[in-house]
Amino acid sequence: MAAKNTGGSTAVQPNPESAAGEPLAPPPPAAPAVATETTVSFRPGLEGVPATQSAICDIDGNRGILTYRGYPVDQLARQSSFLETAYLLIWGELPTIFQLRDFEHEVKMHRRVSFRIRDMMKCFPASGHPMDALQASAASLGLFYSRRALNDPQYIVAAVVRLIAKIPTMVAAFQLIRKGQDPIQPRDDLTYAENFLYMLTEQEPDRTAARILDACLILHAEHSLNASTFSARVTASTLTDPYAVVASAVGTLAGPLHGGANEDVLDMLEEIGTIDQVEPWLDRAIAAKQKIMGFGHREYRVKDPRAVILQGLAEELFTRFGTDPMYDLARALEAAAAGRLGAKGIYPNVDFYSGLVYRKLGIPRDLFTPIFAIARTAGWLAHWREQLGANRIFRPSQIYTGYPERTWLPLEQRPLPT
Ligand code: CMC
Repeated sequence: MAAKNTGGSTAVQPNPESAAGEPLAPPPPAAPAVATETTVSFRPGLEGVPATQSAICDIDGNRGILTYRGYPVDQLARQSSFLETAYLLIWGELPTIFQLRDFEHEVKMHRRVSFRIRDMMKCFPASGHPMDALQASAASLGLFYSRRALNDPQYIVAAVVRLIAKIPTMVAAFQLIRKGQDPIQPRDDLTYAENFLYMLTEQEPDRTAARILDACLILHAEHSLNASTFSARVTASTLTDPYAVVASAVGTLAGPLHGGANEDVLDMLEEIGTIDQVEPWLDRAIAAKQKIMGFGHREYRVKDPRAVILQGLAEELFTRFGTDPMYDLARALEAAAAGRLGAKGIYPNVDFYSGLVYRKLGIPRDLFTPIFAIARTAGWLAHWREQLGANRIFRPSQIYTGYPERTWLPLEQRPLPT
């Protein structure tokens, strides 16, 4: 069934102007061609079932190519910045110099979070997972910015800027709060990644470290209709506010089969321990039908292109800051797994090397997925905007497998278990 603008649809067309009088965002792309209705049988996990039409990101899983709005992700990771890439994803085109300057300025101006949100976060248990803290904090933005005007282009721009700007501040704030410290204010003279590292560590950020973190954010910014993005689109399709959209996506990203896998990769490498244990450990895991964390992907039959780039970034970090024995272990595991799982198209995914990069950057393990969320906020917002452009509420069908209709019995007439 084609997407159509029924009651409650918004067809948002934001095209506000920058201070230089140039459109802050390019006009939205023309509505995608309408697909014809097809009958599909039940597919667990909706594998291979198109659930939307999208012009944001494309994956060639056989050749290992990922593009954002047509641009290969490796070009973006090498040459773009996260904020430029976020702009590209959300508004559909690369910004001009003025548009980028405006966007960066706006994001800088909105990095601070209300003291009420910081006070709320102080009430969170320090032992809680930072993803849960982030989900609650992101949702709380809806309380503070409760006006909902999905047809107002300025509202869309403001919500985009606010979420891109404030999510890193909230991640860093919880990190300091759970250590018993007060969160520190963002610094306007620092780039997006530099400022995040500064807010996290309270130290002057290293330029190389910040550039590599920025590239990681680009690599994690978007990946078509993965579980959290699907969640975001489903939530968006109800025409709720964008903070609820992002909060629902954060909750979905937290699971170990999705964003949470990068933490588990390091746990797994620690469990393996030494290179001579790699092969026996892998054989035992495969025999026990255990999933190897950081391996496999619904979309890729070859090594995830993001894992290739992340491996390069990890090596760059090791050259600058010293090597990590866990990296040798990871490479040994990748080599051993190629012989055993490669024939099934199971290779390292984005999470396999990202944890090693973050570990070298000194980032605590349970912040890996929140950093993924900081990046993916760009993709979620791109999908939010696209969903609003041709909205129809998601309401799939199901195949009922329960009892046929039956009659309720009073308690005394119900048979007792034998
Ligand atoms: N290790 C061993 N076998 C695997 C793995 C793995 N990591 N992944 C898939 N397989 C096997 C699986 O056992 C099954 O084999 P068989 O057909 O013989 O039963 C076959 O491959 C298909 O597996 P599936 O679980 O049905 O595949 P899926 O497309 O539903 O799942 C996945 C994709 C990413 C959830 C899965 O590969 C997995 O659980 N990987 C480990 C967790 C992980 O690294 N997640 C991060 C994903 S990338 C970042 C993100 O999207 O967040």
